[in-house]
Amino acid sequence: MKKILVIHGPNLNLLGEREVDVYGKVTLKEINSELKKLAKKKAVSLQIAQSDHEGEIVKLIGQSRNKFDAILINPAAYTHTSVAIRDAISAVSIPCVEVHLSNIYQREEFRHTSLIAPVAKGQVCGFGIMSYILGLEAAIALIKRK
Ligand code: DQA
Repeated sequence: MKKILVIHGPNLNLLGEREVDVYGKVTLKEINSELKKLAKKKAVSLQIAQSDHEGEIVKLIGQSRNKFDAILINPAAYTHTSVAIRDAISAVSIPCVEVHLSNIYQREEFRHTSLIAPVAKGQVCGFGIMSYILGLEAAIALIKRK
């Protein structure tokens, strides 16, 4: 069975309470349960992690070498700052799909730059929970075409 690593970055554990006007009321638990449902339907296995720590995310990506077929990541605030996460993705050369709940290009200027996008296969943003669903669909399609 193909395996996909899902990584949620900092503060995403607070979804549902955090900036509801931007991110909506959906919780991380609900997102994960939708992802698991889709994974089951498509017969792929998921490992899901959330971390507020850049180094831990770097480690997770590094350890995914030879273990996972794709990575689905919402790097959250690290999207805009983390050379280390970008380098980790580049180093493992596992296809990676970047997702964001909000449309980062409609928001503050500092969110318009993603350091991750150049090393990701593609990016889905602005569709709330659907960004994750579409992102997972894309990751699965990438794997199945390999
Ligand atoms: C986010 C967008 C980021 O700019 C922000 O720092 C987040 C969430 C999103 O999913 O829309 O924490 O990645």
